[in-house]
Amino acid sequence: MKQDMIVILDMGSTENTVIARQIRDMGVYSEIHPHDITPEALKALNNVKGIILNGGENRVVDGVAVDVDPAIYDCGYPVMSIDHPTAKCDEKYDTMPAEDVIKKFVFDTCKSEANWNMKNFIADQVELIRKQVGDKKVLLALSGGVDSSVVAALLIKAIGKQLVCVHVNHGLMRKNESENVIDVFKNQLDAELIYVDATDRFLDLLAGVDEPEQKRKIIGKEFIEVFAEEARKLEGIDFLGQGTIYPDIIESGTKTAKAVKSHHNVGGLPEDLQFGLVEPLAQLFKDEVRACGVELGLPAEMVYRQPFPGPGLGVRCLGAITRERLNALREADAILREEFAKAGLDKKVWQYFTVIPDFKAVGVRNHERSMGYMVVIRAVNTIDAMTAEIERLDYDFLEKVVDRITTEVPSVNRVCYELTKKPVATIEFE
Ligand code: XMP
Repeated sequence: MKQDMIVILDMGSTENTVIARQIRDMGVYSEIHPHDITPEALKALNNVKGIILNGGENRVVDGVAVDVDPAIYDCGYPVMSIDHPTAKCDEKYDTMPAEDVIKKFVFDTCKSEANWNMKNFIADQVELIRKQVGDKKVLLALSGGVDSSVVAALLIKAIGKQLVCVHVNHGLMRKNESENVIDVFKNQLDAELIYVDATDRFLDLLAGVDEPEQKRKIIGKEFIEVFAEEARKLEGIDFLGQGTIYPDIIESGTKTAKAVKSHHNVGGLPEDLQFGLVEPLAQLFKDEVRACGVELGLPAEMVYRQPFPGPGLGVRCLGAITRERLNALREADAILREEFAKAGLDKKVWQYFTVIPDFKAVGVRNHERSMGYMVVIRAVNTIDAMTAEIERLDYDFLEKVVDRITTEVPSVNRVCYELTKKPVATIEFE
């Protein structure tokens, strides 16, 4: 890294990430490290300009207050201590009184330069990736989600055709999702992309399975299986690209990246497939990942898309999945997403989708009594997905969506809008 860096030492504060974000927003790169970092490890970091000791409510562990190695003070870096014993974790950082103090420390005391931006980040990563990978090849499971897409774009920029992307269509993707991945990466970015349509494999395995966790397990296991099969067909692959991002690392206990690498994404590959890991987004927060994607020229729909669970429509086609209901769900979901985009709600609402229960309801179509499926609309807002509030969708908007779904998806004769917060409900139905 060429960027100046402020190191935050974690002394048990829940505000570490808030402060790191604050400093990055000032244009200065910041990383969180464990309180017991050794002076050697600290000195091995590049361009450290100063250290913030950030104490907090969890500072006392097993009756003993954690502290830094006193030799840290002799490393020659300016050190500032922040202690907010009464700080609440939901406090908005822009109202934190500490902000000015931090700014003063970062710029006046440490003389940091505000040179942290996506252009520099990308240039640095391209260099680092080339150095790590050399003339070897990198394999990447490209789902089309934000993280894997941005990693792919960054790796393409760095090593071009030395990156081999595998896109597995498990048959539970949303409408046109696989087509978009192929269009963006194969057609526009000229990536080496292997497309595997494994729809039948997944749906055959899932036939008759109605227990949600069992469905998840089958989908997860088969995904690894299909990916591993493709990997074995390839030769000369030394590395696996992964979309690990900073929160994944911090959530694993603020340990160094090395200690937590195995926990993420395509972890769990069989023994015969062991690769070195390339994780160029490991220091970025989610919004920085998006900014990186934009800077790399990825389409906004891809970079700003709503979260979509790994098991895809599989956990929204409730109970035992049938192709008929899955297709109806996919069409209804596409209509909902289209209407959200038209109304500008796609930028406002955190997650919005349809669900299809596994029963039929009575309806009237063409003057005749008929049985049809019911579709449920869900639209929620949340910060961390631990709790969620309902988006108060406009009635005219809802009516329009209902009209379109019941007209354009003939097997559906009822549409409901779900109004339950999390808790007591969860965001997904399964
Ligand atoms: P719940 O339903 O637990 O969902 O309130 C919280 C968030 O997690 C997503 N979710 C998943 N994501 N694999 C994923 O990758 C899963 O199995 C899974 N289940 C739920 C959900 O979409 C929501 O954003």
